[in-house]
Amino acid sequence: MPRRSSLFIYTLISTIIISVKAHNLDQQIPLVLSNHSHPRPSWSSPPVSNPTKSFWTDTPNANPLAHEGSTGPLGFGGEDVDVCVIGSGITGISAVYHLHRYLEAQGSGGVERKVVVLEAREFCSGATGRNGGHLTRNPFSGYAAREHNYGKENAKKTYRLEDYVSSSIADIVHSHGLVDTVDLVKGDHITLFFTEEEEKRALQDYKDAKEGGVDLDGVKFLDRTTMFETYGANYSGVFFPSYNLWPLKFVSGLHNITSSTESFLKLKLHTLTPVTSIDSALPSNSASKHTKWIVTTPRGALTCKNIIHATNAYAPYLLPQFQDRIIPTRGQIIALRAKTSLDRLQRLSWQANLGYEYWFPRPEEKSEDGECKPPLVILGGGRDTAGPGLDQYTVDDSVLNGRVSKTLREFLPDLFACTGMFEEGREPEMEWTGIMGFTPNGAPIVGPIEGLEGQYIAAGFTGHGMPRAFAAAEAVAGMITSKMTGTEWEAPEWLPEHYLTTWEY
Ligand SMILES: Cc1cc2nc3c(=O)[nH]c(=O)nc-3n(C[C@H](O)[C@H](O)[C@H](O)COP(=O)(O)OP(=O)(O)OC[C@H]3O[C@@H](n4cnc5c(N)ncnc54)[C@H](O)[C@@H]3O)c2cc1C
Ligand SMILES: *[C@@H]1O[C@H](CO)[C@@H](O)[C@H](O)[C@H]1NC(C)=O
Ligand SMILES: *[C@@H]1O[C@H](CO)[C@@H](O)[C@H](O)[C@H]1NC(C)=O
Ligand SMILES: *[C@@H]1O[C@H](CO)[C@@H](O)[C@H](O)[C@H]1NC(C)=O
Repeated sequence: MPRRSSLFIYTLISTIIISVKAHNLDQQIPLVLSNHSHPRPSWSSPPVSNPTKSFWTDTPNANPLAHEGSTGPLGFGGEDVDVCVIGSGITGISAVYHLHRYLEAQGSGGVERKVVVLEAREFCSGATGRNGGHLTRNPFSGYAAREHNYGKENAKKTYRLEDYVSSSIADIVHSHGLVDTVDLVKGDHITLFFTEEEEKRALQDYKDAKEGGVDLDGVKFLDRTTMFETYGANYSGVFFPSYNLWPLKFVSGLHNITSSTESFLKLKLHTLTPVTSIDSALPSNSASKHTKWIVTTPRGALTCKNIIHATNAYAPYLLPQFQDRIIPTRGQIIALRAKTSLDRLQRLSWQANLGYEYWFPRPEEKSEDGECKPPLVILGGGRDTAGPGLDQYTVDDSVLNGRVSKTLREFLPDLFACTGMFEEGREPEMEWTGIMGFTPNGAPIVGPIEGLEGQYIAAGFTGHGMPRAFAAAEAVAGMITSKMTGTEWEAPEWLPEHYLTTWEY
């Protein structure tokens, strides 16, 4: 069996240097996957109720579903719910989308299923509503380590999955006429190498991935001079095609698709409804084959036949057995007005400094007199300067880290010094934080939860959820559909086995 060799794993795409050991996880409880009660870790709570305001969630009219279903009775008048989804981010709503799709495929012989989404805060106000907006698949980074740890087929699948997700999301956006609504941009991506070490590593990964048979279409390495002359950044780097979009609007679009068509799926979305506990509904001597679960919220309880934990960084609150496998990690973002036109900046998304910093310019806006304003640039990062603990083991996205704020303000004017593209000292128009869910090996955690029949998880996207969560949600939706229809679940060809909860390290 391949083994995880190191806690320190590098990928070009996501910010995943984790220091699990170094941190004050004072109650380091051995991992026991069972339904025994585990103490909740001290850093764990439901999402805080007063998060910082993000560009995506708090631009006027951006979030019409913000308070959907936050008053009135819960669920379907006391009837058992087939699937309770906890969390309304890209994972939770993608799971609903896939359940809808599977039920549709059954046609007229299908059975009606009731699905409830429970969201602690406003609609899509977790990481998905507060992230960097990059739908950037990782084309090759980390290949050799993945092949060593999980085998060649699984290593290749990690890249295939991201390819599948980014093209599926683009297809959905196009086929539902949502390109302008969600500001989907098919642009190019550049990852800059600040050090020779980074560059050497990327070249090696590229070579290994190529030998391993990973599809590397469109990937080009650029030397420092070309980069400087073409894009204004005085570093070498690598270039490949990618997308960016308004994540919250894409998730709202997915929700609209599932709720607008008549189907076998009956959906209720309840925002401002945190789940505080989950208990087994059946006495242990019951003859029933399937467990039911009582899902408790301050507004009352629901009885659920299946549960999907789509709570990413927050998963350990309801599932303390995951406390050393999903580490909440705070990221910070600014929306900074550039000093020049989008033409000059170019429609690129960027990443640098091992992925700590990532940014892209938004589409151009017109001011009241019809002139084009320089675009807003969404820039995240600075966590390597956050101070001791690197803003890990916290779910508090109601505050900013001042050290990170300083790093973010200086980053673009420094990088593009003397180009006139950014103004030194300019204050961002918005600044916010959000909580990512890091796993020690960087791989998401997908599938049934041992000892809790009917409960599933899709979480742990390690700062890189946009090209992965949709597929993780599809896998759990497929498992639940198979269970409901009494058929055997077949793993999709793009799903790496080591993403599954059943994988043994
Ligand atoms: C600052 C930042 C920048 C990022 N940038 C990028 C990027 O550019 N590209 C990229 O690919 N990824 C990025 N990510 C990561 C990406 O946003 C996540 O991987 C992805 O959004 C995870 O989606 P999710 O639906 O699983 O989790 P979330 O969007 O966090 O959704 C989980 C939801 O569950 C709800 N919830 C939690 N606990 C409970 C409870 N007990 N009861 C009810 N509801 C609950 C939360 O309120 C939340 O809405 C970034 C993340 C952050 C924070
Ligand atoms: C670009 O970087 C090189 C190497 O670090 C340096 O010698 C050169 O002066 C830099 N050029 C500019 C315009 O900053
Ligand atoms: C979803 O539907 C609502 C109501 O019709 C609409 O206002 C909103 O713009 C739609 N959102 C997206 C992203 O399509
Ligand atoms: C879970 O709890 C039930 C009822 O308390 C018990 O019968 C069962 O053995 C437990 N399962 C595990 C894996 O601990």
